[in-house]
Amino acid sequence: MVISVAPRVESLASSGIQAIPKEYVRPEEELKNIGNVFDEEKKEEGPQVPTIDLKAINSEDPVVREKCREELKKAAAEWGVMHLVNHGIPDDLINRVKKAGQTFFSLPIEEKEKYANDQASGKIQGYGSKLANNASGQLEWEDYFFHLVYPEDKRDLSTWPKTPADYTEATSEYARLLRGLVTTILSVLSLGLGLEEDRLEKEAGGLEELLLQMKINYYPKCPQPELALGVEAHTDVSALTFLLHNMVPGLQLFYEGNWVTAKCVPNSIIMHIGDTIEILSNGKYKSILHRSLVNKEKVRVSWAVFCEPPKEKIILQPLPEVVSEAEPPLFPPRTFAQHIEHKLFRKTQELNANNNGAISK
Ligand SMILES: [Fe+2]
Repeated sequence: MVISVAPRVESLASSGIQAIPKEYVRPEEELKNIGNVFDEEKKEEGPQVPTIDLKAINSEDPVVREKCREELKKAAAEWGVMHLVNHGIPDDLINRVKKAGQTFFSLPIEEKEKYANDQASGKIQGYGSKLANNASGQLEWEDYFFHLVYPEDKRDLSTWPKTPADYTEATSEYARLLRGLVTTILSVLSLGLGLEEDRLEKEAGGLEELLLQMKINYYPKCPQPELALGVEAHTDVSALTFLLHNMVPGLQLFYEGNWVTAKCVPNSIIMHIGDTIEILSNGKYKSILHRSLVNKEKVRVSWAVFCEPPKEKIILQPLPEVVSEAEPPLFPPRTFAQHIEHKLFRKTQELNANNNGAISK
């Protein structure tokens, strides 16, 4: 019997190799713009990811409240990504979530393997590494842990880390509070489009069907960070994504034709507008292209929570109120599953085009 095991990047990194295997080396056109992430983070010139202070989002004072809401809508329309501060989730809870994830990843690989996912058999929750999903065999410099965290009745707690003991409680409480923040953000974005305040929330699945999935990304130190990516360039398919990290830089956003490195803002949560909201708003809110760099000196860990509509139950398309003759729908109707499928298809086509190009040169 042949057992195929996904390679763990952590084991590669700790094996002492000086050169990374060729599957991790990015194609030529990407290598031109991968720099040293610590130098990139220090750059002060040029556009910076906006920081949005949510303290006044529900203020009694309408002037103060509207100013805060305007800033959030503007950031969603111009960037589609922002650092949220004063988001209402206690720092000590966030520290517990990070500590729990870091403690789990500090376990020996054999221990973590007990939680391994099995993508071939459809068991997607658990510990894993990306499998090459195309002919180029391209891989990313990260391992991860993935599981559904909300709604609580849809969780499978048997797949969650049992070490450390606080993992389940801290992560569950974080998911509950984040779910409340999702409603707040979606209501502001709805009002910003001239819709009823609960409209985007309903269109994305509501309390019952909107799924919160956590992915802890573990990026080991990389001996040749200038040749690799932790996560390749993509836009999130989610409605919204919330991201915590261990204050090691890595996230880059493709803004106005350049890669901008996100600064590490203390006590913030990075929030992305995903494709789902971009589609529903007919492009008025943006889903920005982004990627992760790795480095030689420090392990980077990030905690992403993807808030996603159900795969089949909802047809995603620009809402009738936001389209007009002057602004026709930019996206065809698709289920969330069809949207994901379409992106994969397009990516494969691009790869094939690039490969053919290389052969014919
Ligand atoms: Fe992403």
